[in-house]
Amino acid sequence: MTNIDRSGTFRLGSRSVRRLGYGAVQLAGPGVFGPPKDPDSARAVLREAVASGVNHVDTSDFYGPHVTNQLIREALHPYPDDLVIVTKIGARRGDDASWIPATSPDELTQAVHDNLRNLGPDVLEVVNLRIMLDREGHGVAEGSIEPPLTALAELQQRGLVRRIGLSNATHAQIAEGRRITEIVCVQNHYNLIHRDDEALIDELARDGIAYVPFFPLGGFTPLQSSTLSGVADRLGATPMQVALAWLLQRAPNILLIPGTSSVAHLRENLAAAGLELPASAIAELDRMAQTG
Ligand SMILES: NC(=O)c1ccc[n+]([C@@H]2O[C@H](COP(=O)([O-])OP(=O)(O)OC[C@H]3O[C@@H](n4cnc5c(N)ncnc54)[C@H](OP(=O)(O)O)[C@@H]3O)[C@@H](O)[C@H]2O)c1
Repeated sequence: MTNIDRSGTFRLGSRSVRRLGYGAVQLAGPGVFGPPKDPDSARAVLREAVASGVNHVDTSDFYGPHVTNQLIREALHPYPDDLVIVTKIGARRGDDASWIPATSPDELTQAVHDNLRNLGPDVLEVVNLRIMLDREGHGVAEGSIEPPLTALAELQQRGLVRRIGLSNATHAQIAEGRRITEIVCVQNHYNLIHRDDEALIDELARDGIAYVPFFPLGGFTPLQSSTLSGVADRLGATPMQVALAWLLQRAPNILLIPGTSSVAHLRENLAAAGLELPASAIAELDRMAQTG
């Protein structure tokens, strides 16, 4: 078994977590809607992650909806003391599996209670406000986040939420958020190819704020490139391991939450903790990103 301590730890709010974590979105059914075909293997992935040293799990009650959180509770509750479960609110699912913004105070309160009920802790350790201001709901878009973030901060003051993060946030929204409450992490789209947040990552690193890239492997259609495969072959690694090792080397405040529904892929991903990329490989990957 790989020792995931090799990739170190970083502060997440008041806790310290290993930099290799696990993202649970792949555990729900197709389209992140409904139950998985094989709930036993979903629970096995979660148990194997924690047994391997993962102590940072990312989820949301809108995965399924409810399904992913219920699987986490069934597999892992009572939770180990060092496990940090990070959830996100700000959307709900339509009957047609659509993703609908849900940021009124009532909807946010409901979402916090849904997470508490389905995950089962006394308090939610970290809650990300998922921002959905663009027309499609999936990309980033400017606009004030003051009303929903103030509502979430009130839930924090009531003791239901310990720490707050932002997801899908622009630089201006993070600055606005930090004027309203402490922001302990930012979860945005970032990977080897999609590098819009370069300056933001460095700025957050200077301030000790965790940056948690979603789609670290490219998302539902993982990254594919002959350059990436070539680098991986030369290092005796897999392309996904190189993609994760690159993120680990990119900045110390990056926490990884690769998603998988497979124990074999989980093991492969966690083994990236021990992979060091030489400068020549990083330069080659940078050239690949520049040329698209
Ligand atoms: N804040 C947000 O808006 C947001 C959005 C999306 C995701 N997230 C969070 O970020 C986490 C990571 O994102 P993600 O899971 O969507 O994408 P990802 O980690 O970039 O990639 C997941 C995909 O890669 C495949 N995969 C994983 N390991 C692999 C391996 N070793 N070899 C080959 N394929 C592999 C998975 O399929 P298999 O199941 O077959 O392994 C799945 O199709 C999520 O789990 C979720 O917690 C947040």
